[in-house]
Amino acid sequence: MKHRVVVLISGNGSNLQAIIDAVKDRTLPSVTITRVVSNRKAAYGLTRAEQAGIPTLYFPLKPYTDAGRSREEYDRDLAERVAESEPDVVVLAGWMHIFTSAFLDRFPNRVINLHPALPGEFDGAGAIERAFRAFQEGKTDHTGVMVHNVTTTVDGGSVIVSERVPIEPGTTLEALEARIHSVEHRLIVQGLAAKLRELYPHQFFESATA
Ligand code: GRF
Repeated sequence: MKHRVVVLISGNGSNLQAIIDAVKDRTLPSVTITRVVSNRKAAYGLTRAEQAGIPTLYFPLKPYTDAGRSREEYDRDLAERVAESEPDVVVLAGWMHIFTSAFLDRFPNRVINLHPALPGEFDGAGAIERAFRAFQEGKTDHTGVMVHNVTTTVDGGSVIVSERVPIEPGTTLEALEARIHSVEHRLIVQGLAAKLRELYPHQFFESATA
């Protein structure tokens, strides 16, 4: 029994790559990525998907806004396309859009998101940079990464897995970003595994390393 996963990206796709690699090295033996969707044509994650033989879909928002059509219409049409791949879980890995219920209602309790901050600390875009600035202002000594269930509240759904990342004195933003991304690449796999265990407690199998 393979669990079908669709991954939505907007950029480099290094977290998508982490999932592709986990499937290949059998850390996630029961997972098959049935489609990768990007809202940006230039997203390198599309190349990563093609190199892994995974079907891709480029689905931009602009034609909708240019035609005066709503986000809800975009989200509903995108949900229709994603549903064609019959996903058990939809993973947002660097997807830079906020979903309305027009998308989420199609996949109740099956959409998860990776966010480079701890619950309720730096919601929304630019989280790593904002955490680093807070550190420079002496307001925090850490940030983190989480994988959470997606609701219509930005980065607000219940947390599946999270990890605190201390910010060391003297560190640079680049070093922090690199540290955060390495934690993300591990947590995205752990978060997906945990979600599948939740949804399919008697079917989902994983290796001990996940
Ligand atoms: C990651 O930091 C993710 O948490 C954030 O956007 C970045 C995507 O990176 N939402 P990539 O495209 O997976 O390399």
